[in-house]
Amino acid sequence: MKPINIGLIGYGFMGRAHANAYRKVGHFFPQDRPLVLKAVCGRDGALARAFAETWGFESTETDWRKLIARADIDLIDIAAPNNVHAEIAIAAAQAGKMILCEKPLAMNAASAAAMVRAVTRARVPNMVWYNYRRVPAVTLAKQLIDEGRLGKIFHYRAKFLQDWTISAEVPQGGAGTWRLDAAVAGSGVTGDLLAHCIDTALWLNGGIAEVSAMTETFVKRRQHAGTGKLQAVAIDDASAFLARFRNGSLATFEATRYARGHKALYTFEINGADGSLAWDLHDLHRLQWFDHRDTGAVRGWRSIHVTDRDHPYMKQWWVPGLQIGYEHSFVHQIADFLQGLRDGRAAAPTFRDGLATDLVTDAVLRSARTRRWQKVRAR
Ligand SMILES: NC(=O)c1ccc[n+]([C@@H]2O[C@H](COP(=O)([O-])OP(=O)(O)OC[C@H]3O[C@@H](n4cnc5c(N)ncnc54)[C@H](O)[C@@H]3O)[C@@H](O)[C@H]2O)c1
Repeated sequence: MKPINIGLIGYGFMGRAHANAYRKVGHFFPQDRPLVLKAVCGRDGALARAFAETWGFESTETDWRKLIARADIDLIDIAAPNNVHAEIAIAAAQAGKMILCEKPLAMNAASAAAMVRAVTRARVPNMVWYNYRRVPAVTLAKQLIDEGRLGKIFHYRAKFLQDWTISAEVPQGGAGTWRLDAAVAGSGVTGDLLAHCIDTALWLNGGIAEVSAMTETFVKRRQHAGTGKLQAVAIDDASAFLARFRNGSLATFEATRYARGHKALYTFEINGADGSLAWDLHDLHRLQWFDHRDTGAVRGWRSIHVTDRDHPYMKQWWVPGLQIGYEHSFVHQIADFLQGLRDGRAAAPTFRDGLATDLVTDAVLRSARTRRWQKVRAR
């Protein structure tokens, strides 16, 4: 079978996570089309070459346009900051490439919609790396909900807490701190952290109708790594919102980079008439589950160790009882994308699903600005 030649853009955190997934997937999820790490692209040629050496890419590029123009590239993987997603993805679609894009899909929903139009017109397979859907315990939560085990859902509660920008000395802009520069990131924790929570929520509990939000920028001015000047900070440091789902359930969402002691605490809890479930990224192989139909004396929360062969993805890994971790969610995502290609169906989340999340984050930012409830616009 014809191999799939990958062109990866970005050799940072996600560049490593994706390269690792490409290298592993065929060993654990047998493939008929081999993946070839054809080229990695980054602006610094020496760093790109070092990355290629480490991860086994055949070649390097320093201009993503040259990468897209190459006839020997089948799939463009965008693991670069948010401000370049749309331009790269639209050019890649026009060149007929398959596209995997990091989240958030774009700087805002209008830009995300243009990306959806481009991949629809070009009919190219596309997917957004909302990898938390593929943590086995989260996938199991989806199965339990789809089987109707929670009954009518009343509440959804999600948080994503970090603490790495509390110091006013952290600059904005540049490598590692582009997330604090609105021109590169689009928004702060709303597009960065809440986007993950929203994607999971839309998947597990359906569409969000309206939101009421507040945001805060605790440190108003930071030195810009590019200009060296003290400049106004335009991202949100913290963001919290109330939401009403289309199914009638109520939700609270919160994200911040000012929760001292928390590094990446993504948690959610869902309460239904017949049961509740809860998940915590710091204990990602466990799903907490309460079943109201259990009989009285033994009724209580149980902690499911999601490592058994009948748990999602787990029979591909080790023996029951042995855990996997963060990196494996990326392996699962690429495995599902490749399965989708074989089956002739799109693996979610597609660009259209990524747009759905951007429409919610747009509404959140609009609500914080206007201090009013905002409807989530239709796709
Ligand atoms: N799925 C997740 O859980 C997750 C986690 C972290 C980051 N992300 C997303 O991944 C993307 C990248 O984040 P990161 O943490 O890897 O950032 P990073 O700063 O670690 O790496 C970014 C890379 O992009 C490169 N780059 C920047 N501009 C470029 C350009 N014009 N052309 C080519 N390369 C360019 C940089 O040189 C660097 O290699 C962002 O969209 C981010 O939101 C997703």
